[in-house]
Amino acid sequence: MEKKYASMKSIASYVPKNCVANEDFEKIIDTSDEWITKRTGIKTRYFADNNEASSELGVKAANLAISRAGMKPDDIDLVICATLSPDYLGMPSNACLISSRLGIENKPAFDITAACSGFIYLLSLAKSFIESNTYNNILIVGTEKISSILDFSDRSTCVLFGDGAGAAVISATNNENERIIDVNISANGKYNDFLMTPRCLGSNLNFSNEFYVSQIDATQNYIKMRGNETFKIAVKTLANDVKEILIRNNINIDDVTYFIPHQANLRIINAVGDIIGIDASKVVVTVNKYGNTSAASIPMAIDDICKEGRLKKGDLLLLDAFGGGLTWGSSLLYFNGE
Ligand code: UT7
Repeated sequence: MEKKYASMKSIASYVPKNCVANEDFEKIIDTSDEWITKRTGIKTRYFADNNEASSELGVKAANLAISRAGMKPDDIDLVICATLSPDYLGMPSNACLISSRLGIENKPAFDITAACSGFIYLLSLAKSFIESNTYNNILIVGTEKISSILDFSDRSTCVLFGDGAGAAVISATNNENERIIDVNISANGKYNDFLMTPRCLGSNLNFSNEFYVSQIDATQNYIKMRGNETFKIAVKTLANDVKEILIRNNINIDDVTYFIPHQANLRIINAVGDIIGIDASKVVVTVNKYGNTSAASIPMAIDDICKEGRLKKGDLLLLDAFGGGLTWGSSLLYFNGE
């Protein structure tokens, strides 16, 4: 039997319409456009409307990804979603909500929690499902409404994040020049308190539901980050991870068409880019426009160069991500979309 590979057949994204500039934060907290730009590279980010759910952002990107793959929702065998800002705590999953809105029925759907590394984890799962002959067409979605869990009085986090969604169809192919070459994922829960989202009823606080909704310290309801420590581990871990995946696959950095890292901070992106020795013109940067959109950041960045007409079928992409958990990962793939 011919060998079966997984390939990225399409990419799509959705950016909500409310653009928030650094100057808008100057009106509500002690910060400045200068500080945010210098320390992060971020100039703007986009926030969803209050009544626009994270699953709905995902539906918009997913719809486009399916049509760009030349498929109908019915052709999809599995839907997996990565998010740290789902519509519901635990259930129903965003993947089930997205499937339902797309008209996909009686097909498996589930969410994963890998924070900003979510899209790389999705690639790993999709590749395994396809290469083990379990499914042929998998819809993967990274979608975030992080604005809903931001503490707008905490200047060290609220200026960093944005909302958005990205999706891809991962399909089977026999052509090795269309394949996802490799995906490497990892985690170290020892650093679980570096990045955290609101606690749920399943935590060891053992609060009653009534207590949870009425008494809980309001600061427990928002994203928290030990930024500087995360920054240092991120640079070191990502540089090693990316070097390792290149060596393992015997690929020279000069053969990579685009390096598309998770978009958390321009200083992290540049530091890793310098260490691995990639030409700056090949590094894709969108953090200036969208801020950190967590699981959506990589597919949004891939779609950005696609919309600009810079991405071609056969381009060799190097992806990396780092996030809460702590989690991280990287991937090498030939883009197989039109
Ligand atoms: O996506 C998941 C992974 N996430 C990341 O990898 C993010 C990693 N971390 C970072 O990107 C950076 O650490 C930050 C952008 C979060 C912070 O930059 P930093 O250079 O590490 O700054 P810092 O936390 O060491 O803070 C330096 C100073 C502090 O003031 P003092 O104590 O020196 O007086 C902060 O209070 O900057 C202050 N500061 C701000 N000042 C103006 C923190 N946030 C702000 C702000 N505006 N928004």
